Amino acid sequence: MQTATAGQGAARTPLARFFASTLGRKAVMALTGVVMFGFLLGHLAGNLLMFAGKNATGTAYRMDEYAAQLHSMPALVWGTRVVLLLSVAAHVWVAVSLASMSSAARPVAYKVVKTQQATLASKFMKYGGFLIFAFIVYHLLHFTVGVAHHDFKPGQVYANVVAGFSQPAVSGAYAVAMVSLCLHLYHGLYSFFLTMGFNHPTYTPRIRTGAQVVAVALAAGFLSIPVAVLAGVIKA
Ligand code: HEM
Repeated sequence: MQTATAGQGAARTPLARFFASTLGRKAVMALTGVVMFGFLLGHLAGNLLMFAGKNATGTAYRMDEYAAQLHSMPALVWGTRVVLLLSVAAHVWVAVSLASMSSAARPVAYKVVKTQQATLASKFMKYGGFLIFAFIVYHLLHFTVGVAHHDFKPGQVYANVVAGFSQPAVSGAYAVAMVSLCLHLYHGLYSFFLTMGFNHPTYTPRIRTGAQVVAVALAAGFLSIPVAVLAGVIKA
């Protein structure tokens, strides 16, 4: 029986053969996913400072102080950016290659597609992944570079976020991205455990529930910020 591998003839070393196999590529997918998930946890924790208001002396927003502190450590900022960029690139490349490997292994499409087994999240992975990628590009232009922001003030992160989310269309776009992120994360986290070999009649359903809880909590955490701005809870 032939297994789905890419570049079988060319793969020489055991490591090259591993990365050419479906399992090796799923491992890259899982590892890069974990890196991005770790970034998201840290980013959410930092963003929630939007709720913390000003410092004890009332001279600056805690969010701005935190951002200034981060930017005073260029090695950390640029190191994180490089790792994230490489992770996103590898994650996308592997996703595309795994999709083409699976269609190459099944050149004739199934006549009956078993949609009942595919969850909404799994069907959404490809489109959701593309949407999240597009969101990240927009997000960087919006809050980091500022060219997609109507009133960007360098270094004033709190004011930029409040002004940005005061526009309902912008908050709406973020909400769509957060729902996509939630579905993507749920399926990604769940698949991560299956790839790692955790498959058990008792624990697999619990892992699925855990993945749902984590994905919803993370997306809700991010979403709470535009909602709080529109509701006037976070204001300039
Ligand atoms: C409501 C949700 C979010 C808010 C309020 C927010 C806020 C921000 C802000 C203010 C910055 C610029 C920070 C600075 O220049 O000091 C930033 C950067 C960034 N955000 Fe977000 N973010 C949100 C969600 C997300 C999500 C869901 C992702 C990923 C899917 C993400 C990925 C990034 C990345 C990659 C950067 C660039 C970091 C860097 O400069 O190296 N953000 N975000």
